[in-house]
Amino acid sequence: MTHKIAVLPGDGVGPEVVAQAVKILRWAEKMTGKQLLLTEYVAGGAAIDRTGTCLPEETLRGCIDSDCVLFGSVGGPKWDALPGRQRPEQAVLKLRKELKLYANLRPAILYPELTGSSPLKQEIVQNGFDLLIVRELTGGIYFGEKGTEETAEGMRAYDVEQYSEAEIRRIARVAFEAAAGRRGQLTGVDKANVLETSRLFRRIVDQMAEDYPRVAVRHMYVDNAAMQLVRDPGQFDVLLTSNLFGDILSDEASVLTGSIGMLPSASMGGGTFGLFEPIHGSAPDIAGQDAANPLGSILSAAMLLRFSLGSARAADAVEEAVRQVLSRGCRTADMAERGVVAVGTEEMGDRVLRALEASH
Ligand code: IPM
Ligand code: MG
Repeated sequence: MTHKIAVLPGDGVGPEVVAQAVKILRWAEKMTGKQLLLTEYVAGGAAIDRTGTCLPEETLRGCIDSDCVLFGSVGGPKWDALPGRQRPEQAVLKLRKELKLYANLRPAILYPELTGSSPLKQEIVQNGFDLLIVRELTGGIYFGEKGTEETAEGMRAYDVEQYSEAEIRRIARVAFEAAAGRRGQLTGVDKANVLETSRLFRRIVDQMAEDYPRVAVRHMYVDNAAMQLVRDPGQFDVLLTSNLFGDILSDEASVLTGSIGMLPSASMGGGTFGLFEPIHGSAPDIAGQDAANPLGSILSAAMLLRFSLGSARAADAVEEAVRQVLSRGCRTADMAERGVVAVGTEEMGDRVLRALEASH
């Protein structure tokens, strides 16, 4: 069985962290007996420099022709002055839209070993937490009508937030299914006291709740949810939210796990095709220094194995290896507590690999 994986390292620390995830995929190839055909494509600023566009046709084609995509990160100061539509970030936005990846799964787990690295007080996080953000990814304000225009009173800019019933239903279904397979608690996060889109979200989620009697549904305003996350993250199981709110809350949730460098994500479109990327950005300040945390990328590879390649056993093994490496005290600089000597990107990747090889 051959599986085609499009690899898009991108910019900044993207190539370094993706290289570690690739090591893990090579291990999985041996473990599962599945042949993995990895092909690299340019994206983001690197693609702008080479081809003039952030998502060249060849890259998009390569992704479409693959079984899944392993993505690094895009963007950097070099391209910051470009107008909106030409920015490197458009690469990932276009990929999500073109590949119809409407469901973004962002698990945030605080391992008991890492409670000391969380910025939260020990008494709040002593038991760790395990939550999943289900973020709508191809609609909302990100993709609504937008523009900037001159008016008699000066400039005016607008971005329209809109959601259709069908868009809400399909993302809500993903969240209900996820909750049913976890602890059975679903929190819809919105701003229904102000926004029409949020009110529609609530109405549809409440209707659908009747089909999932084992899932307990509650709703929470996004401002309150942002606060509850730092007050008591352990209260959450699955959070269902819109594109913009999900973007914001997932950065917040990530740092509570000790470091934004830890969080993986899967972007799915209803089938097994998916795009897998760490939620962190390109971190240009530490790029090329072997200082980035590759665990977000490695855990994204685990999600790839689970969701696109159907290799749950390999995925479990990778997640377990990460946990083991952390419990042995191994840390990259972003999550090292005072006095702990940090390892580099390569070394962290190698430690996870060695843990895998030792146990399988
Ligand atoms: C993310 C990122 C992207 C987003 C950017 C790079 C466009 O912040 O994946 O969370 O806003 O979705
Ligand atoms: Mg983000």
